[in-house]
Amino acid sequence: VHWSAEEKQLITGLWGKVNVEECGAEALARLLIVYPWTQRFFDNFGNLSSPTAIIGNPKVRAHGKKVLTSFGEAVKNLENLKATYAKLSELHCEKLHVDPENFRLLGDILIIVLAAHFTKDFTPACQATWQKLVGVVAHALAYKYH
Ligand code: HEM
Repeated sequence: VHWSAEEKQLITGLWGKVNVEECGAEALARLLIVYPWTQRFFDNFGNLSSPTAIIGNPKVRAHGKKVLTSFGEAVKNLENLKATYAKLSELHCEKLHVDPENFRLLGDILIIVLAAHFTKDFTPACQATWQKLVGVVAHALAYKYH
């Protein structure tokens, strides 16, 4: 995958303003609310019985932060995403049995969270670049699946 100087700027420029704790928690909570079948991977997270419960669930918040922090590795390693996510790809496939389609769903949710947070600054050009990034990250996370 090639990244132009402009794309790199749109990625790192926005990422520098992202509150990883807040946006990570919101993204995972939205995934669990909008696509409720994803809840089955998190049956040890306690109460996920309503949107309010999900948004207020401290395990969802903590895990959302962990996931978005990990997404930050992509921002730092744009040229090397497959290697960056090789171990996580194995984990999600072999141990967690997460269908890789869910990586795409989470990527689209992240786009919505960023759009809601950054409003006018999340320009069409910025969205286009971030769509590319979440797609490439989903691909890298699915790479080790067999
Ligand atoms: C665990 C990253 C998407 C389900 C993890 C961990 C990381 C991570 C860093 C912790 C690994 C460890 O403990 O060593 C990511 C990234 C994603 C992503 C970067 C996409 C951008 C998903 C999706 C699902 C999922 C879409 C399911 C719908 C899980 C589960 C765990 C986990 C069930 C274990 C949670 C626990 O019990 O602690 N993920 N993940 N992940 N992930 Fe993902």
